Amino acid sequence: MQFLVHPPLWALLITVLILIGLVLYVGRLNLNLRHSKKVLEVEIGERRRAEENLMQNENHLRQIIATEPECVKLQTPEGILLEMNPAGLALMEAGQPDEIIGTSVYNIIAPEFRDDYRKLSTRVFAGESGVMEFQIISLKGRRRWMETHAVPLRDRCNKVIALLGITRDITARKHAEEGVRQHYRELAHASRVNTMGEMASGLAHELNQPLAAIANYSHGCLRRIRSGTGTVDDLTRAIEQVCNQADRAAEIIRSLRGFVNKADSPHQPQDIRDIVHEAILIVGPEARTHEVEINLKFMPDMPRFMGNAIQIEQVILNLIRNAVEAMSNMPPVLRRIDLRTSIEGNMAVVEVRDFGPGLPHETLARIFDPFFTTKMTGMGMGLPICRSIVEAHGGTLSAFHNEKGCGLTVRFTLRRAMEETLHE
Ligand SMILES: Nc1ncnc2c1ncn2[C@@H]1O[C@H](COP(=O)(O)OP(=O)(O)O)[C@@H](O)[C@H]1O
Ligand SMILES: [Mg+2]
Repeated sequence: MQFLVHPPLWALLITVLILIGLVLYVGRLNLNLRHSKKVLEVEIGERRRAEENLMQNENHLRQIIATEPECVKLQTPEGILLEMNPAGLALMEAGQPDEIIGTSVYNIIAPEFRDDYRKLSTRVFAGESGVMEFQIISLKGRRRWMETHAVPLRDRCNKVIALLGITRDITARKHAEEGVRQHYRELAHASRVNTMGEMASGLAHELNQPLAAIANYSHGCLRRIRSGTGTVDDLTRAIEQVCNQADRAAEIIRSLRGFVNKADSPHQPQDIRDIVHEAILIVGPEARTHEVEINLKFMPDMPRFMGNAIQIEQVILNLIRNAVEAMSNMPPVLRRIDLRTSIEGNMAVVEVRDFGPGLPHETLARIFDPFFTTKMTGMGMGLPICRSIVEAHGGTLSAFHNEKGCGLTVRFTLRRAMEETLHE
């Protein structure tokens, strides 16, 4: 009993120690809690600031998109438009956003472009980006050319959630391009009709007379010889006429050169690169149809030459056409034309090299003769006209077999503009 009422001193001591320990522990706990609270407060503050920043950024972004002059849109894989900025709505000629938002993009895309757009959309949702030109039909029924850059929009887990498209109106550019193409088509047509057609039909017409006379006199001679009625004098006179008419025919062909030399526009410094590009604009589609690849190798800093751009374009067109035609029976992988420019002394050099069958040596010597052709429907006037044009420019036109492998290289030279200026 006495033990219970008066605990021994050591027990009291232990109790006191335990109490002190508890007090210290609670104090420590309190300190930790306060510290944690402070850390938490700081973190909450930072998060709030981050959220505010985020909101501000989003606000900025929205303002930028809203004032962006190009159409910015978001779209689902099925083509439903989720968002579009005011510039986009204006482009689609929509009065209210709900005339567009929530509808299908395919309602606006012109029918002939829908399949391609669908393919682009599939690629974007597979994670790729793409660019495409297409036509839309606005809500007011107007057709416009658009160019869109489409990229995948991803969530935090990197999953593609929408197609983000930035689209601009390129109608004016397209019309300008079409205008230029039309101009070149007309130019090519006009110059072809002028030089080839007019000249060839004129020549044929003029040659008809001497040729008919030659035939008449020769038949007459033969008749007299066969019937034994012709005297030597008669026959000599007839053969003299044959010679005269043949000379006349030769003179008509020579006048071809004079005709080409009468350049209607004066020779001016020209950039060969520009002229080649213009010729490619015309002949490129033909070459592609025949699966011929044209490689251009321009010498850097090529000096300009003096001349008539249309005529030199005509030469390049003829040489490329001949090369394309020469390779028509080659396997498509070998159908290639190398067009290269270089300079040699005071002359600019243009070479058109093909990898076709080339020509036998005896034929090679004749290809510049008027009316020489190995083609069923050929006129045989392409190369003679080219040679006349090039020579009228103070240059030369020649053809030789490629050193290695098969094929022909046709090469022409033109006087450098510098040289012309020095002479003047
Ligand atoms: N790159 C070439 N490869 C092989 N033969 C060619 C080539 N270019 C021209 N020829 C030959 O030269 C001939 C004359 O060419 P051209 O004067 O342009 O007339 P055309 O093309 O109307 O036949 C052609 O029929 C062809 O036999
Ligand atoms: Mg030809």
